[in-house]
Amino acid sequence: MTAALTTAVPDLAALQRRAAERAAERAGGNDRLRGHIVCDGLVRIFKTEGVEVVALQGLDLVIDRGELIAIVGASGSGKSTVLNILSGLDVPTAGIARVAGFDLLTMSAKQRLRYRRSTVGFVWQQTGRNLLPYLTARENVELPMRLARRTSARAARKRASELLEMAGVGYCADRRPGQMSGGEQQRCAVAVAVANDPEVLFADEPTGELDEATAADVFEALRAINAELGVTVVVVTHDHNVATQVRRTVAIRDGRTASEVRRSARIGEDGLEELVTEEYAVLDRAGRMQLPAAFVDALALRDRVKLNLELDHVEVRSGDEPQREQL
Ligand SMILES: Nc1ncnc2c1ncn2[C@@H]1O[C@H](COP(=O)(O)OP(=O)(O)OP(=O)(O)O)[C@@H](O)[C@H]1O
Ligand SMILES: [Mg+2]
Repeated sequence: MTAALTTAVPDLAALQRRAAERAAERAGGNDRLRGHIVCDGLVRIFKTEGVEVVALQGLDLVIDRGELIAIVGASGSGKSTVLNILSGLDVPTAGIARVAGFDLLTMSAKQRLRYRRSTVGFVWQQTGRNLLPYLTARENVELPMRLARRTSARAARKRASELLEMAGVGYCADRRPGQMSGGEQQRCAVAVAVANDPEVLFADEPTGELDEATAADVFEALRAINAELGVTVVVVTHDHNVATQVRRTVAIRDGRTASEVRRSARIGEDGLEELVTEEYAVLDRAGRMQLPAAFVDALALRDRVKLNLELDHVEVRSGDEPQREQL
């Protein structure tokens, strides 16, 4: 599936370039951008009252430093499970999960605490969970810096104001959450989450309680923070329209990465930069891939399929078809 889009696009490409530059500065060179987040064959099994639920069944995902990606998928597909593991709140059953050099399966309790305090930032879906109601927006952003005691009170105040500006809510600095809209609160929450300059920012359905227009503002804040700070951003969402807001969207189905939508910039025939959107199926290391449900339904594929290797592509046919060459 390929579609060329030209609207509001060079802007996104420019932001992505800036994010990559900033990330390279942080990492000490372009060659160190690869695989900031790596999941390989990630498995998470929940056991409740003797019943096992396999929430992740061998999920593979590689995210480079400075990327801004969206994870989409149906309810129950495993999105929050991945995010909880990557942010150090939950421990996987098996597989590999590494973020910024931390091994999330084997890290000690002490390392885990340090990881959660200084390497990752988190934005929750529920606006009320992100901000303290009796503090102003600026005080909310200052708080994590004060607790970490790495910056003077004056520097913390200055950075808080800058981050709120970056997130597009500088005008809310002196308001309490109760005096802000849901979208403004979430943009403020983005500023809080990056107060201590984390390497990665995770957001689980940050726009789940917002309408479409307000949700776009929150994405704008995430893009600005990604571009200005070079922080790697992973956003989980139900909203398939986000593909137009980010460079890469990964779809999860039944606890596995199923497909990926990438947008890349190229110079069009008219000499202007345009973004091209392409959808890919994800191939794991063992050569497995998921066919899109619509393809499976269209040809009523089931149980097994026949594969033919052609010169430059692979053909997939129903296994129930009459054999063309019977021996
Ligand atoms: N603590 C838990 N105990 C038992 N089962 C769980 C637990 N957490 C998640 N699950 C199960 O794991 C699967 C994946 O859940 P997860 O919360 O990751 O889905 P999700 O993609 O985030 O869904 P949603 O879009 O509804 O938030 C579901 O079947 C869910 O019921
Ligand atoms: Mg969820």
